[in-house]
Amino acid sequence: MGSGTVFEDENGASPLADTVVASKRISIFGLGYVGAVSLACLARDGHRVIGVDIDPVKLALIRDRKSPILEEGIQELMRDVVNSGRVTVTADAAAAMRETELSFVCVGTPSAANGSQDLTAILRLAEQIGAALALKDGFHTIVIRSTVQPGTVEDKIEPILERASGKKAGVDFGVCFQPEFLREGSSIRDYDHPPYTIVGANCEASVDQVRALFRHLDTRFLVTSIRVAETLKMACNAFHALKITFANEIGRVSQSMGIDAHEVMRLVCADKRLNISPAYLKPGFAFGGSCLPKDLRALTNIAKQNDIELPMLSSLLISNRVHIDHAVDRILKLGRPKVGMLGLSFKTGTDDLRESPLVLVAKRLLGEGCELRIFDPEVQLSRLLGANRSYIDANIPHLGSLLCGSIEEMINPSDVILVGLQQSALNDALQVHVQPGQFVLDLVNLPNRDLLRCRYEGICW
Ligand SMILES: NC(=O)c1ccc[n+]([C@@H]2O[C@H](COP(=O)([O-])OP(=O)(O)OC[C@H]3O[C@@H](n4cnc5c(N)ncnc54)[C@H](O)[C@@H]3O)[C@@H](O)[C@H]2O)c1
Repeated sequence: MGSGTVFEDENGASPLADTVVASKRISIFGLGYVGAVSLACLARDGHRVIGVDIDPVKLALIRDRKSPILEEGIQELMRDVVNSGRVTVTADAAAAMRETELSFVCVGTPSAANGSQDLTAILRLAEQIGAALALKDGFHTIVIRSTVQPGTVEDKIEPILERASGKKAGVDFGVCFQPEFLREGSSIRDYDHPPYTIVGANCEASVDQVRALFRHLDTRFLVTSIRVAETLKMACNAFHALKITFANEIGRVSQSMGIDAHEVMRLVCADKRLNISPAYLKPGFAFGGSCLPKDLRALTNIAKQNDIELPMLSSLLISNRVHIDHAVDRILKLGRPKVGMLGLSFKTGTDDLRESPLVLVAKRLLGEGCELRIFDPEVQLSRLLGANRSYIDANIPHLGSLLCGSIEEMINPSDVILVGLQQSALNDALQVHVQPGQFVLDLVNLPNRDLLRCRYEGICW
């Protein structure tokens, strides 16, 4: 096949094509792990696919009905789809664009020396795709599947496409970001059984095109903003790395005590309510209370005594402290405001103040000279006993003079209201009593915050 020719091997219907209703013409840029698997699977599903790569070896391999990557089932599939005539490959990006209505971008985005993402290949390719769009009639959808840092699609790729094509994104062509969740080694299975198909887009026509391609998969099809989809992909990979590191650190410390690490982690994973679940996975405020900090300290201390390093587990209390400092610093940026705190205990519905992050916030604000009022319906000084009482006596000995008898008493004189407690009656009271000149810093992801008549900020959203 000449480099500018496409679909020249078309040799009529193949049994593989029978399953698909609407066959599309698709170009795939980058024939590495992601691109080669997508090319083979899309062609298997009946679409006509042009693969584009700058590596002549990969192109020659595919023309020779061989896969450029090693994956379970890919050699047979590549042979079948190339034989079907629905796959061609080329180094000519412009020709591939001309002959297709939809393009997947799967080029590499490796780490640069300083750890940033090297976007050279994808941005150079955007120039080429833009130039080809300039010469093309009709709407074209470009789906970015390479993992890119948040903002890349809208702030870098789209402007290049618009400038190089002289056309308008969302009008003459559509751009979306569809993160790829395949794992090397089981790519074809993962392609067919993704956790979900998710598209970040601001162009309905492009979403419809992608939806049509993946409609047959037995999974949810979700649409979000491009930036959320870009961040999601990075968050997923960070979460996977976190899970692996967690299991390995629990493994090392268990081993150092002669305890069966596999049995420990098997039982950790058997709890689907608190452990393997969405529990504790919402952005919010720091953890605290009488168990988490204490037990983390004990575990990392065991490791220290056994000469075991646990960098991740040891960093958790540090990160938690940074989160508390972040709340205090945000308030102090306003000068030395009068602060009203809604909530003091370590979580809603308890009066346990031990290692409550809100107590640490209060202590620091007092130390910085802020005037402070606190309202927590569960906390009454006269009822605090034992370790709970000792903790508060050690940290805020004059707590009694700061506690208010009602939420209004706390809100009215305050410049800033720090919301660390969630209850529907208290949410309603905030809406009624907070005034336009005040500032709400939310630690609990308040529902109905749009109804607040004042300046609002979330602690990490
Ligand atoms: N490998 C995975 O399991 C995986 C999974 C999900 C997402 N991703 C992401 O997908 C992207 C691709 O990953 P990969 O592992 O397939 O990369 P890869 O390095 O295996 O392949 C990238 C391909 O792009 C080609 N290329 C570079 N510039 C090009 C250009 N201008 N035109 C056409 N082709 C060009 C290269 O020659 C190479 O064949 C990366 O951003 C990666 O982070 C990878």
